[in-house]
Amino acid sequence: MKRIGVFTSGGDAPGMNACLRAVVRTATYQGMEVYGIRRGYSGMISGDVFRMQPSSVSNIVHTGGTLLKSARSEEFLTPEGRRKAYGELRKHGIEGLVALGGNGTFQGARIFGEEFGIPIVGAPCTIDNDLFGTDHTIGFDTAVNTALDAVDRIRDTADSHERVFFVEVMGRDSGFIAVSCAIGGGAEAVITPEEPIPMSYLLDSLNARWQRAKSSSIVIVAEGGIEGGAHGAATRVRDALPHLDTRVTILGHVQRGGAPSAFDRRLASELGFGCVQGLLAGRGGAMLGLLASRQTFTSFGEAVSRRKGLDPYRVKMVGKLSV
Ligand code: F6P
Repeated sequence: MKRIGVFTSGGDAPGMNACLRAVVRTATYQGMEVYGIRRGYSGMISGDVFRMQPSSVSNIVHTGGTLLKSARSEEFLTPEGRRKAYGELRKHGIEGLVALGGNGTFQGARIFGEEFGIPIVGAPCTIDNDLFGTDHTIGFDTAVNTALDAVDRIRDTADSHERVFFVEVMGRDSGFIAVSCAIGGGAEAVITPEEPIPMSYLLDSLNARWQRAKSSSIVIVAEGGIEGGAHGAATRVRDALPHLDTRVTILGHVQRGGAPSAFDRRLASELGFGCVQGLLAGRGGAMLGLLASRQTFTSFGEAVSRRKGLDPYRVKMVGKLSV
């Protein structure tokens, strides 16, 4: 393989740039030509492709966002869109691809690889950590650190005013950020899509704690954990326990930006390196992840169809640590 393409797709994640850098540098070291594709599958369809040199990725190992931009493409979901994308790759002589993204990216990569026989390997980049086949996704650690920093600040003001704060973190379908923040931030409770807690349990535990003269409480709510998110949870608690002074903070996209943590930079660099080695070794149709500290390939099909469950032991731990 002499010429490969690389692209970033779906929600950006801190560490994508470090991974891109590793892909470009490793491929160049191995004597390959690398082409960057802008805006994910949209750029593939429109032929927004450019030659990358090692210098194209100078000084980005520590930056958030993605140099290649990202997008979600409706057109790529159609056979016609994918045919156009393949035509553009052929035009540029691209023989293999490295895809940096999450669930949607790998669903697209699986179909595209099967339809046209082009080898594609993927590096798991999403703050949600919701991909089967890797213990950590690139960006997750940074997002948790960012959210925790905010939770620490909220705790100061919550304590001063003796309030209950509902802090909403990202995760439409997954509660990994929420659980990590709840354990690391000493929250009283966590609400996730995967392991919903009964409202009666939340009310009882908040009430019991306040009767024991707690001076503040933090409840971490994953975006998709309950209807209405943190506002929904706060409204229900306010209705049942009107003596509690409640507030809501939604952290939002602040969690997706910023410099990647040391862990994410290293993970991103190592997986970017491994993806190129994988292509050279004849791999395709698979994501490279980190399982029990070992780099492991998992087919795209498995990575997107199997669910990485939240550990219920950890979820229960949150309540126990805040007695
Ligand atoms: O990247 C994952 C994620 O941040 C989810 O946690 C969140 O629900 C979603 O992306 C938001 O996507 P968008 O930025 O397109 O609104």
